[in-house]
Amino acid sequence: MMERTDRHFRYLARIISPHTLLYTEMLTPRAIIHGDRDYLLGFHESEHPLSLQLGGDNPDEMDQAIKLAQPYGYDEINLNIGCPSERVQTGNFGACLMANPKHVARLVEAMRGATDKEVTVKHRIGINGRDSYDELCEFVETVAAAGCQRFNVHARIAILGGLSPKENRSVPPLSYETVYRLKQDYPHLDIEINGGIREVNEVLEHLRHVDAVMLGRAAYEHPYVLAGVEQAVFGNPHAPTRREVVERMIEYIDAWKETPVSSHTIVRHMLGLFAFKPGTRRWKQRISELLPRADNPNDAVRAALQAVPAAVLDERPTAPELAAVEGE
Ligand SMILES: Cc1cc2nc3c(=O)[nH]c(=O)nc-3n(C[C@H](O)[C@H](O)[C@H](O)COP(=O)(O)O)c2cc1C
Repeated sequence: MMERTDRHFRYLARIISPHTLLYTEMLTPRAIIHGDRDYLLGFHESEHPLSLQLGGDNPDEMDQAIKLAQPYGYDEINLNIGCPSERVQTGNFGACLMANPKHVARLVEAMRGATDKEVTVKHRIGINGRDSYDELCEFVETVAAAGCQRFNVHARIAILGGLSPKENRSVPPLSYETVYRLKQDYPHLDIEINGGIREVNEVLEHLRHVDAVMLGRAAYEHPYVLAGVEQAVFGNPHAPTRREVVERMIEYIDAWKETPVSSHTIVRHMLGLFAFKPGTRRWKQRISELLPRADNPNDAVRAALQAVPAAVLDERPTAPELAAVEGE
């Protein structure tokens, strides 16, 4: 997610959940070709498994960008055909490409030719003017024929030219049934569901119908939900407590101290760590008060931690029911 899943957030997410697949922010091939590649593509080795998400419409540029990204060692390359933003539409990529499955297939072919890693596609269930189930099937079949085996399906259409990206994440209604139907009709493909999923129990329910679940906003706004996922989905009883997560982040913040990266760039991703728990508001307040004037950012983090009750700091997810996020 743009402005969200940078390497610092991913490092945090990985501490909480060793097994989830993480995604980069969407990058354009041109940014990779012309930009500061170490800045755009560098990541910590603990972030594996990690998918590099690209958004573009030019097969040659895709080929070039993927080859330039190859030394960084991403585990898969994901093509974004779900983004509805004006800027992306002007570049003729993102969700508007759902109108042109053959072109998406050409992109996937070019991408697969450039890497031996898996190439996956994130898309919507349709766009305005092209939102029938048959058209969705045509899209998936055409793209699958080009060698894509895994589809991350945001279970709502995108309305292009009418709604902002934010509205496009809430206004068009969710249709989980459409994604379930896709899995039934294409059992040989990996179908992953996305959109509006916030709780571990919901994840478990979706997994009865599809192969995987992608969490967007819930994972960012409440990253500790991933501890519940780790426990309930991956069967890992050793998810760290929030206190352990913060302690590891303190080491990480220290490791970046002598670099141009501002501590705010890292610490901002930790603000949601206590979401839905007593002390969350005070934690956020203390961080924003103390961080700008702290000589050592970790002094601010440690002081803010005092605002959180020990029971919250040391709690572990123990069962799916308990791990579920309480509604706010
Ligand atoms: C701030 C923000 C940035 C996003 N950036 C991307 C992106 O770069 N690539 C992408 O595929 N989806 C992006 N999304 C969409 C999410 O991945 C996801 O599809 C959408 O939010 C619906 O899922 P959710 O309800 O779990 O958040 C973004 C969403 C938000 C809120």
